[in-house]
Amino acid sequence: MPDAFVARSLEEIRFWSRIMKEHSLFLKLGFRCEDTTLINEANQFYSIFENIESRANQFTVGTDPNVIRRFNEEVHNAVSHIWLFKRKILQLILTCQLPGANNFPLLVDHTSREANYFRNRLAELNAGRLDPLPDAIINENVFFLRIMADHAKFISHLLDPSERKLVDQANEFSHDFDQLLYQAVDLDSMRPQSQTVPLLDQFLDQNRVSVVALRDFKKTARDLIEACRIKSIIHPLLADHVYREAEHFLEIINMFELSLTGKKN
Ligand SMILES: [Fe+2]
Ligand SMILES: [Fe+2]
Repeated sequence: MPDAFVARSLEEIRFWSRIMKEHSLFLKLGFRCEDTTLINEANQFYSIFENIESRANQFTVGTDPNVIRRFNEEVHNAVSHIWLFKRKILQLILTCQLPGANNFPLLVDHTSREANYFRNRLAELNAGRLDPLPDAIINENVFFLRIMADHAKFISHLLDPSERKLVDQANEFSHDFDQLLYQAVDLDSMRPQSQTVPLLDQFLDQNRVSVVALRDFKKTARDLIEACRIKSIIHPLLADHVYREAEHFLEIINMFELSLTGKKN
């Protein structure tokens, strides 16, 4: 199925290269004025992923699969480099070599996990081996539930402390997703016995309800930030970024649901 390979590759690259480009911007904004070398490195990654994004948008589904295979390799290489850059920043922060810089260690680690995910995806696509459905359902949910739990924590910590109601709501989401993540980890360790259609279907249903609620909360937060109606140090683009990642997770859940039971949501 060469067309499916091309389509899947382009979809992943279009989504994640924009995400990687924005990570470069967020990392840059968190550095101190004197960190000029790091700022330049971040700018370079921004251009690299901007370029990848625009090329991915120009390719069509009819493109020769061999061209896409080489493109995937090239992107894989760029993602490996940004992953290393993020881990280097994490090292600098955790050893107190960037005192006063404005990115949380968990946020830097989080963006490196997303890079690692993207890199694995590209490797799997090129190797032509995707996880069987029941494994994919558990693996993807374990990955994305943690991502969602982190987002709730970032929102809670970047809102102004005087926004008490919103901080409470963000903390509730953080707790909710921590619980869902542990449920997913439990299901994971009960593999393969836990991989029955009813259990996986219920798992997806439950996760979907929370992801929809978090997605709506992020959308509201994004709109309020854009309209300058709430106090925070959240960049409007970061608000939109985490909203898009929730949307992406939701699409994955719906795709799984459809393959598992044929039910549409
Ligand atoms: Fe991200
Ligand atoms: Fe994220």
